[in-house]
Amino acid sequence: MAKEAKKSESGKAGPAYEIVDHYHDVVVVGAGGSGLRATLGMAEQGLKTACVTKVFPTRSHTVAAQGGIAASLSNMGPDHWQWHMYDTVKGSDWLGDTDAMEYLAREAPKAVYELEHYGVPFSRTEEGRIYQRPFGGHTTEFGEGPPVQRTCAAADRTGHAILHTLYGQSLRNNAEFYIEYFAIDLLMDDGACVGVVAWNLDDGTMHRFNAKMVVLATGGYGRAFFSATSAHTCTGDGNGMVARAGLPLQDMEFVQFHPTGIYGAGCLITEGARGEGGYLTNSEGERFMERYAPTYKDLASRDVVSRCMTMEIREGRGVGPNKDHIYLNLNHIDPATLAERLPGISESAKIFAGVDLTKEPIPVIPTVHYNMGGIPTNYWGEVLNPTAKQPDRVVPGLMAVGEAGCASVHGANRLGSNSLIDLVVFGRAAAIKAGEVIDRASEIPTAPASATDKIMERFDKLRYADGGTPTAELRLKMQKIMQEDAAVFRTEETLKSGVKRMNEAYQQMDDLKVTDRSLIWNSDLVETLELENLMACALTTVTGAEARKESRGAHAREDYKDRDDKNWRKHTLSTIDAKGKVKLSYRPVHLDPLTTPAEGGIDPKKIAPKARVY
Ligand code: FUM
Repeated sequence: MAKEAKKSESGKAGPAYEIVDHYHDVVVVGAGGSGLRATLGMAEQGLKTACVTKVFPTRSHTVAAQGGIAASLSNMGPDHWQWHMYDTVKGSDWLGDTDAMEYLAREAPKAVYELEHYGVPFSRTEEGRIYQRPFGGHTTEFGEGPPVQRTCAAADRTGHAILHTLYGQSLRNNAEFYIEYFAIDLLMDDGACVGVVAWNLDDGTMHRFNAKMVVLATGGYGRAFFSATSAHTCTGDGNGMVARAGLPLQDMEFVQFHPTGIYGAGCLITEGARGEGGYLTNSEGERFMERYAPTYKDLASRDVVSRCMTMEIREGRGVGPNKDHIYLNLNHIDPATLAERLPGISESAKIFAGVDLTKEPIPVIPTVHYNMGGIPTNYWGEVLNPTAKQPDRVVPGLMAVGEAGCASVHGANRLGSNSLIDLVVFGRAAAIKAGEVIDRASEIPTAPASATDKIMERFDKLRYADGGTPTAELRLKMQKIMQEDAAVFRTEETLKSGVKRMNEAYQQMDDLKVTDRSLIWNSDLVETLELENLMACALTTVTGAEARKESRGAHAREDYKDRDDKNWRKHTLSTIDAKGKVKLSYRPVHLDPLTTPAEGGIDPKKIAPKARVY
């Protein structure tokens, strides 16, 4: 049925929505660990701060983070921020930005003690200190010593504890929450961000958040794949908004597979399980990681363990009737320790695998878990729009933190428990920087009415989509392509096929069919908006992967088996035009640390590229 033409805000004929205006110094989009840490930091400084979130804050995906948060507190033995930095550099396979990695490792202890003082109920040692457990890739003596216990834990519910604490503290500091509001698009004016438009899912109203600073904390896009540990809400919404604003995404080809997703269900079994003494076995009962990583064994870096598991399965040593997964053994560990340290996964193993982990092994398989790539930022969270002449050019008014952002501290592969610390260190850094750059005396900027019109026109295009492809069908198609063609191991053939199939799928967005046009709790429309965001992420991921002719971190190519620092130690930038064409360019990795050895910094020789063995 043809729609009646109405006058929009700018006076042009077209769709019309009544828009409710809000004015804030800062609008944070997303209420996971980084969003809440940024919100709290902004509100503490007296900045008028709104947090716009599509789910209730304590249901954000950070709630699922189990094993812990990395910081060199030295509570369980010697540790040093420089060792943490070294491990992060090596974990990143020398793609991370050195200044950002130094900032992360140096600030981590401070950020964790702040969490403790805010009230996070960390597990404790006998002496009452924060308990820390070993995690993969975290070592002593610049990789020459034994594994270190660096991961601070609240049993295996660390993310849950952090979220609840930060939400309470944010409320205490008068942050304003707009809960179950779906952010549709950024308001851009002459290259600067001046706000965001959001849809209130509960009553169907449309809202324009005018702000001096917008902080995207929208998380990752695990749901671009068929099997992921990520919540169904992890749909790369911030990445999609940035791509539609014509800004680049960075290093999207680096997608982490967590070694221990529950076979068939995808739910996470924390790496903390191996930190507490768990180990992997194949169909011959062999602890095969001893063969591949003789020093750190099951506590090698995640990309390494995931590849080894995949090789065991391919070579016929998988377990189960189809020999297509691996066992994680915890049944040798004292049940009292399991109950104290890993209560959550004991429950997950029972519910999702039907396994009593005190008696039987858990069936596991590498599962999509984390996106190293995202919205390019500096280590203050300011979004970058690099040019050849200005590789670190900042987009005024826009920040990105957490998994949505790419600072880049994780480079080509993230170490376990470096995610939670990334959330709080960079959420906090964004607040510090915003406190400096926001002019409190100035007026809150507003975008021209035509900017809102454009956003609502796109919204209407999806709302009234009347083609032949249901959203769920196209989403499944995308997820299967990504799972098949951008997997743990990649080849020219799979990636070329992935690029072709993803381009076709992207074009099918024009044939979508949305059946529910209402504005109140319309999951069909929400999922369609999410699909558009996921599509941008999936297409840039597979395109960047096809172009990168080397193996580095999580990007493992069978046809280019080695890391190629001469040609490929650089960040991929990808933009998408209105027709869905992806354009790639590259920007240099930041090689310089923040401080020199004379200033107490790391010796650059310690972090020079070398073979990455565990
Ligand atoms: O294994 C885990 O507990 C996950 C932690 C992480 O991804 O950092």
